[in-house]
Amino acid sequence: MHVLTVLDHPQPASFSAAVAEKFNAGAETAGHTTELADLHAEGFDPRWTRADIAADSGAPVPQDILAEQTRINRADAICMVFPLFWWGMPAMTKGWVDRVWSWGWAYDQLNDPEASLQRPRTGVLLVPAGARSTEIRELGHHAALETAWMSGTFGYFGFTQRQLKLLCGSKGSEARRAALLEDAWQTGHSLVPPAPPRTAG
Ligand SMILES: Cc1cc2nc3c(=O)[nH]c(=O)nc-3n(C[C@H](O)[C@H](O)[C@H](O)COP(=O)(O)O)c2cc1C
Repeated sequence: MHVLTVLDHPQPASFSAAVAEKFNAGAETAGHTTELADLHAEGFDPRWTRADIAADSGAPVPQDILAEQTRINRADAICMVFPLFWWGMPAMTKGWVDRVWSWGWAYDQLNDPEASLQRPRTGVLLVPAGARSTEIRELGHHAALETAWMSGTFGYFGFTQRQLKLLCGSKGSEARRAALLEDAWQTGHSLVPPAPPRTAG
């Protein structure tokens, strides 16, 4: 498969950047080709614009969005790596999702989250999180993110195989961080191909 990894972190030496690198290394060892979209380094503008709105009504799609959609077109699997911020996506990732996965290109309706206009893809979210896994599960955050992202967002985008991995304790000990990086490598190494399109049950 061709794998697009989308990284959201301004710091090249960040843990998130290391996670993206390990994931791609695992994917390459398994025989996949990889491509890194480093949104901060590339200067992606996450702000939703009037040009984006006009494109919904037939105006030309902004060039920066076309470039992102071209990258997506050639990918069979997409991995997004971003740190968990306030139990959600950081602004850069949020804006990339809002602007790039647009109405009329990614999806065309709101009542069937599994009816994407996109071909089936494998989707992975690797999300470093400062909190401990027990805290995240016991307080219900993990379930909330599964609902909001796995069923509420990425179904619309045709991710017929999708997994959310919260890399909990990302600010912890060196041993903890090494284990999380190993997990990222294994996730890349064990990527599965997209499943046929799902139908809403
Ligand atoms: C603005 C901000 C909000 C954060 N919110 C959360 C949060 O809601 N839950 C959590 O577990 N960690 C949270 N964190 C911790 C980050 O997830 C953690 O610092 C990050 O995963 C570390 O990865 P990095 O070294 O690549 O930045 C937050 C950090 C920042 C800076």
